Amino acid sequence: MTNCGRYCCQVMAIVKAISRPLWTKSRKKITMSNVGVIGLGYVGLTTALGLASLGHTVTGYDTDHNLIHKLSEGDVLIHEEGLQSALEELSSLSRVRFIRKASEFLGADVEFFFICVPTPQSQTGHADLRFVFSAIKELSAVASKNSVIVLKSSVPFGAGARLVSALARPDVFVASSPEFLREGSALRDFMNPDRILVGSESESASRRVLGLFDGLDAPKIVTTKEATELIKYSSNAYLAMRLSFVNDLAHLCEKTGVSFRHVAEGMGTDSRIGSEFLSPGPGWGGSCFPKDTSALLSVASEFGVSLPLVEATVRANSQAIYRSVETIRQLAGGSLLGKTIGVWGLAFKAGTDDIRESPALKVIGQLLGEGCEVKAYDPVATAALGEGYRQVNSALEAVAGAHVLAVLTEWQEFAEIIPSCVADAMAVSNIFDARGILPANLWKPAVESLRSTGEG
Ligand code: UGA
Repeated sequence: MTNCGRYCCQVMAIVKAISRPLWTKSRKKITMSNVGVIGLGYVGLTTALGLASLGHTVTGYDTDHNLIHKLSEGDVLIHEEGLQSALEELSSLSRVRFIRKASEFLGADVEFFFICVPTPQSQTGHADLRFVFSAIKELSAVASKNSVIVLKSSVPFGAGARLVSALARPDVFVASSPEFLREGSALRDFMNPDRILVGSESESASRRVLGLFDGLDAPKIVTTKEATELIKYSSNAYLAMRLSFVNDLAHLCEKTGVSFRHVAEGMGTDSRIGSEFLSPGPGWGGSCFPKDTSALLSVASEFGVSLPLVEATVRANSQAIYRSVETIRQLAGGSLLGKTIGVWGLAFKAGTDDIRESPALKVIGQLLGEGCEVKAYDPVATAALGEGYRQVNSALEAVAGAHVLAVLTEWQEFAEIIPSCVADAMAVSNIFDARGILPANLWKPAVESLRSTGEG
């Protein structure tokens, strides 16, 4: 088999492993390009490996030298499904390489640069664009004529135009193409997007960017940079709003004794509502929803516009976290002082080791503040939370001697644990399943039978 043939087979194996069968049906011949990716966190690394899987040759750059060293050695430092094997395969095929200095882009004939650096929340609530401007400055010195700089980092309305001025390279195009991937399923989402969105002042630049994704079967939308900026923030704010509604409703269900699972099923079958993003939790978190809702509110206030629903969404989320603590307090007998709470889950969601803005950590912080001991277990995430807190190595160790078990992240392995083992190990069998993942038909009888025999 030729090198090219071998490459195609291996890449198809990666693509097949992470995409729905639909993808293979609409496989189109794509023009391969040289692509640079700046910033190699969740978004950047996924973008780099996703584009390399589609057949492009990708050069990844990050200012973190240790990260570049590890990636060059074939090690992915984050827990994210599919990235490790994709990196190994694509590195061995020389489809992806990593560099320490932006100047190494020179001479690599790069046609597209994807900026994927973080845009954290600043103290004023605005998005902090420091890293984006620094990337633009570096690219201004190395981008070749007619190349396209594609902004994937989430930026507020109007930022794209400011970046064009900062770039000061009229011979280089700037486009915006926000990403919609989720941590925990990032590569799968990259390969199976609901839509691909590009905005630029040049329609031909937008079309060139879309051409990179020709192999993907998804609606492709060409619009303005400004529209992409609002679409990204609005999408995240809308999803967060839905979750705040879900969490409030789950609370009502708990009070009325109605199963939220049944309500969600009944609502989700309405095609206008849809069944995704209807799972309750202790609150929503992560590196995106909290900062993007806040940044959208900041943008709106700059324009003298109030967004009461987004404000209520954020407020309802703080209340959801507080409510989780309140439920645990009630289960602990009205006071948390001196009680031991077993916690399952630290990550902001299952499938990732990311603890940024994790609702689990917020709940634990409040529990510790009320004087209880917390023993926590997570399959991949770690956190050091100070006095009264201990991270243990198994789910059963976390519940040993506990007065309450709180399930705060929806890892599948928690749903597979045998309830009687948990109830046996606990001081009192009080369970708060904030994610609704423990099968009630198995857990309820096990816990109730222990209570009735006075053992739990
Ligand atoms: C989110 C968006 O879903 C992505 O489309 C977007 O690209 C990304 O932000 C971003 O802006 O970079 P992510 O934060 O990775 O992705 O994860 P989500 O799956 O959206 O979860 C966010 C929070 O909502 C988590 O705390 C999660 O546990 C919670 N959630 C999600 C629920 O409580 N219930 C659900 O049904 C879904």
